[in-house]
Amino acid sequence: MQDEIVSTDHSGEPTRRDFLYLTTGMAAAVGAAAVAWPFIDQMRPDASTLALSTVEVDVSSLEPGMSLTVKWRGKPVFIRNRTEQEIEEAKAVPLSDLKDPEARNENLPSGSPATDLDRSAGESKENWIVMIGSCTHLGCIPLGQAGDFGGWFCPCHGSHYDTAGRIRKGPAPQNLAIPLYEFTADTVITIG
Ligand code: FES
Repeated sequence: MQDEIVSTDHSGEPTRRDFLYLTTGMAAAVGAAAVAWPFIDQMRPDASTLALSTVEVDVSSLEPGMSLTVKWRGKPVFIRNRTEQEIEEAKAVPLSDLKDPEARNENLPSGSPATDLDRSAGESKENWIVMIGSCTHLGCIPLGQAGDFGGWFCPCHGSHYDTAGRIRKGPAPQNLAIPLYEFTADTVITIG
C-alpha cells in the first residue's frame, strides 16, 4: 500500500503524480476500514452473553430463614432471607472479634467495615444477604445454615462463617464476597 506522497515538483503546485498517490492512499484507507469492521463487530458480546452477565431473581417465595442458590457467571450465589434472630446475632458481634474486618461488598467502597448492615442489602432490607458461594480458602461451596455460628460451613477444611457470611473460624482468610446486585423491584434482585 502506498501511503506516502512524493513530490518532484518544488513549485508548490500539486502535480498529476501527487494526485495519483493521494487517490491511491485514500482508496487503501477506505478498504482497510471495510475489512476492519467485521472483526470489530465480531468482538462485541452477542445477546446471549449479555443476558448471562446479569441474573434476575424473584425472591418473593423466600420466607425468613430460607435461602436459595442461583448460578451467575458460572458461580453459585447464595441469597438468604435472614430471621430477626440471625440478624441480631450478627449485629451483636464486635468488629474486633472478626478475622476479616472488611465488608468485601462490591456495592460499597473498598475498605468498608464488615458491620452487619454493610454486609446486608442495607437499611430496610437488612434481612437480605447475597454472596458468592465460594469459600475464600480454596473455593469449595460452603453449606448453608451450618457451622458453629449458624451461617455457613465449608467442610473441605473446616471454615465457619457467621450469619452475615463473615469468616469466624478455620483457614479461610476473608468474608464471603458480595457481588454487585440491587433490588430492581421489592422482591426482585438483579445480580451483576
Ligand atoms: S476450601 Fe473451604 S475451608 Fe478450605
